[in-house]
Amino acid sequence: MSRLFVNIDHVATLRNQRGTVYPDPIAAASICELHGAEGITVHLREDRRHIKDKDVEGLRASLSSILNLEMAATKEMIEIAKRIKPEMTCIVPEKREELTTEGGLNVKKQFEKIKSLVEELQGNGIEVSLFIEPDMAQIDSAKKTGAIAVEIHTGSYANAPIGLKRDNELSRVLQAIKYANEIELKCNAGHGLDYFNIRPLCGKNNGISEFNIGHSIISRAVLDGLANAVKEMTEIVKGNQ
Ligand code: PXP
Repeated sequence: MSRLFVNIDHVATLRNQRGTVYPDPIAAASICELHGAEGITVHLREDRRHIKDKDVEGLRASLSSILNLEMAATKEMIEIAKRIKPEMTCIVPEKREELTTEGGLNVKKQFEKIKSLVEELQGNGIEVSLFIEPDMAQIDSAKKTGAIAVEIHTGSYANAPIGLKRDNELSRVLQAIKYANEIELKCNAGHGLDYFNIRPLCGKNNGISEFNIGHSIISRAVLDGLANAVKEMTEIVKGNQ
């Protein structure tokens, strides 16, 4: 059975837009936990465009569930992870100009660098997951680094138009999950998953330990919460509260 980890980066995006203290990612994390999330995922980007260092520190101090820190393979991030000690890290490729993480890590190409980073983090008691495309060669390389887990990048599947292209992407993802399980790599999945496209990946023996999902959940929360937010402000405007 899979666990849901909620990525709360975009709560911080909204906060940073106005430089206010709200919406507070720590309060958001607590609501996620109360309603079934078994972990909280944040991506501390090099440019700190959403989650900031103080958010990660606050989450570390307040979470009752698991903290999964997504980060680039840089010296700075490794030092932060060693200091904060999240239960898990997910190593992602990162380019400053991208809107979100746009592709998987090329573990094959940077094998020695990633292997030593995995050793350093796991030697400090932090589980490492490598965010990779659904590609057997990348899964093999990930296994050889000694990483406990991989996260299969579901973006190409999620973004493909419905039809043959999406079916093909889905079967690539499913084969990758099967293979990772066969070679005893813990297998997670994420990116672009929403309330519809996640369905073929769910079920009892789906081979996925954790789903990391952000944008669709935070987007749904904005619309679901709007009615109450407007009702409350209407009452204040009318002098009833
Ligand atoms: N997993 C990883 C490794 C990511 O980089 C992201 C995006 O930050 C996600 C999952 C969540 O993607 P989304 O916001 O599209 O659900």
